[in-house]
Amino acid sequence: MSHAIHKPIGPGGWLGILGGGQLGRMTALAAARLGIRCHVFTPEREGPAEQVCARATIAPYQDLVALDRFAQSVDALTFEFENVPAASLAALEHNRPGGRVLPLRPGPRALEIAQDRVREKTFFGELGIPTAPWHPIDGPIALQAALLAVGGPAILKTNRLGYDGKGQVRLKPGDDATAAWNALGGVPAVLEGMVPFTAEVSVIIARGVDGATACFEPTENVHRNGILHTSTVPARLTPAQIEQAKAIALTAARALDLVGLLAVELFVAPDGALLANEMAPRPHNSGHWTMDACHADQFEQLVRAVCGLPLGDPGRFRPMRMTNLIGVDAETWPAILARPGARLHLYGKADCRPGRKMGHVNDPFDPAGDAR
Ligand SMILES: Nc1ncnc2c1ncn2[C@@H]1O[C@H](COP(=O)(O)OP(=O)(O)O)[C@@H](O)[C@H]1O
Ligand SMILES: [Mg+2]
Repeated sequence: MSHAIHKPIGPGGWLGILGGGQLGRMTALAAARLGIRCHVFTPEREGPAEQVCARATIAPYQDLVALDRFAQSVDALTFEFENVPAASLAALEHNRPGGRVLPLRPGPRALEIAQDRVREKTFFGELGIPTAPWHPIDGPIALQAALLAVGGPAILKTNRLGYDGKGQVRLKPGDDATAAWNALGGVPAVLEGMVPFTAEVSVIIARGVDGATACFEPTENVHRNGILHTSTVPARLTPAQIEQAKAIALTAARALDLVGLLAVELFVAPDGALLANEMAPRPHNSGHWTMDACHADQFEQLVRAVCGLPLGDPGRFRPMRMTNLIGVDAETWPAILARPGARLHLYGKADCRPGRKMGHVNDPFDPAGDAR
């Protein structure tokens, strides 16, 4: 494996992060704790990551000169923003002076597959990981046929660039396929059968340069208006389902030869089966509970993995619920600070827009008093 030829990056080393949002911010904070400095590349001035990074380059992702200079200043590279063109990342990794290879972790393949719903679902299928029934859609005629084939409630999703429920419409048989196709902008899409899930869960695995893995316990997720609202551990899963969720993450991470983090979102079907929804090769909002409940949280695991260091212990030492602070929710911060046990994480975002992730809070959780 090519990963193994690189020396580990320890205290005093430089980690490059592409993307300047909250995931980059929390990665940089974790790196700082290990004595590793971060250089962030972001188009956004004074964003969440820039505020806590030792160095920042503010430039558009298309600025190849700035990207190249950035690459020269770091020992390894990771990303928090998934829509950096995978080809530009591959060029950054390989076109280094003196034939040096700059480790990009995870590599471009994980990104390419996770950026594209058709490739992602095909990938799951090839690994024997079940998903909802799905059909690739390239126009209204294909959509009409797929709606008939699904034969019940369905959800049309753009193939690329969807997040927080954006780029989706819900449909039922008999709905106007042309109108739905146009509503999503006439771009390649997938139609999925709606899963009448009893719960949504997700699982995050870290994989190191040497192939060692450390998987967090699956968490149970509740969405509101398409945006993650809470993540709770322990999830209401049987021991067999927990093992199954972890096995899915392990299978996918190995198949990608991933170095870094992989988050997999799953539906719990009415018969108890786990169906993969989507995956992300980066820290995930549904893993923020690990910051206050695990020996090593997801951001520290990412830093350890991409720097070629041994992974930490993903074990959980208490039940926890993460609640996202969306838009004006963040204005309740004084009450959160006053709440015993609550751990507040704010992202340093200046303007508070509706639907914007401003922060999150982790609260100790009592499974006995659960009102989920
Ligand atoms: N096939 C499906 N069946 C039922 N619910 C779905 C399905 N696909 C998506 N959803 C709901 O919509 C949410 C967002 O969809 P997802 O594919 O995860 O896109 P995003 O990239 O916006 O997170 C899911 O977390 C789930 O609540
Ligand atoms: Mg999702």
